Amino acid sequence: MAWNLHGTHTQEGDIVELVGLRHKYFIVQLKEGAEFQSHRGVIKHNDLIGLPWGSQVKSHLGSPFFLIQPSLGDLLREIRRSTQILYPKDIGFILVSMGIGPGQHVLEAGSGSGALTTALAFSVGNEGHVTSYEVRPDNQRLAQHNLEWYGFADRVTFKVGDIANGFDESGVDALFLDVPDPHNYLVQVKKALKPGGFFGSILPTANQVSLLLTSLRHEGFAFIDVCEVMLRYYQAEPDRFRPTDRMVAHTGYLIFARPVLPGEDETGNALLLENAANLIPEE
Ligand SMILES: C[S@@+](CC[C@H](N)C(=O)[O-])C[C@H]1O[C@@H](n2cnc3c(N)ncnc32)[C@H](O)[C@@H]1O
Repeated sequence: MAWNLHGTHTQEGDIVELVGLRHKYFIVQLKEGAEFQSHRGVIKHNDLIGLPWGSQVKSHLGSPFFLIQPSLGDLLREIRRSTQILYPKDIGFILVSMGIGPGQHVLEAGSGSGALTTALAFSVGNEGHVTSYEVRPDNQRLAQHNLEWYGFADRVTFKVGDIANGFDESGVDALFLDVPDPHNYLVQVKKALKPGGFFGSILPTANQVSLLLTSLRHEGFAFIDVCEVMLRYYQAEPDRFRPTDRMVAHTGYLIFARPVLPGEDETGNALLLENAANLIPEE
């Protein structure tokens, strides 16, 4: 067991979330004989194993906690990290925009800390597969460790390498790049991605986006979309309902595109690759 969304009661090995007062939360894996320790006191794991999800428990200092199943977003917010990670708000939109689903083969680079890898592995299910490239072995070790902890390691092949040298795979359904210079790797992307497949990338600054847009046009990618996901939380208080004081103003620009096979325009002339970029879905 690891991350377990099934069942009504906790089991040894489950990853659980303990939520204390003022939304302080902790994510731990239940192990017989182990103890959860925080400044709010100690709780024995043996006292948590076998409880119904949603139970309230108290530490030896009397501090109350609720025992719940963490969502994918909860896990990703708390993931051990050595790099910048993709955040749930962006990951959710990436998954739906790129049609990531059961049985697909998805490529990504770089693995970083494995936040996106975890979400991809969750989405492709047991029949699908994720291949994740990373140039820094230390980063990839942490990503691999995180995937093992969540219980998804068998859905992922990790490869250490610079994607400048290309991908070993071809005909994959979707490919996501979270590297600073994706514009340098579109030839490699086109060799690995099936025609019409889903390409996506995230970049923090506008000048990086401009470089990628130029390369996407040059390489004949169509249906290019650029957007940004803004998420605003509200105080869930019926008589003081209003936005929370703070919000994350910017994480990155999301860029999506599809490589297409050569085509022609209305008059039957060959469509210049650079004009394929103008093939955008009608509003
Ligand atoms: C921002 S992190 C990726 C974070 C990851 N998406 C996550 O959610 O945890 C970027 C990673 O790309 C790796 N990287 C940069 N250039 C690369 C390249 N040419 N080939 C492979 N990996 C690369 C970096 O070493 C770094 O670990």
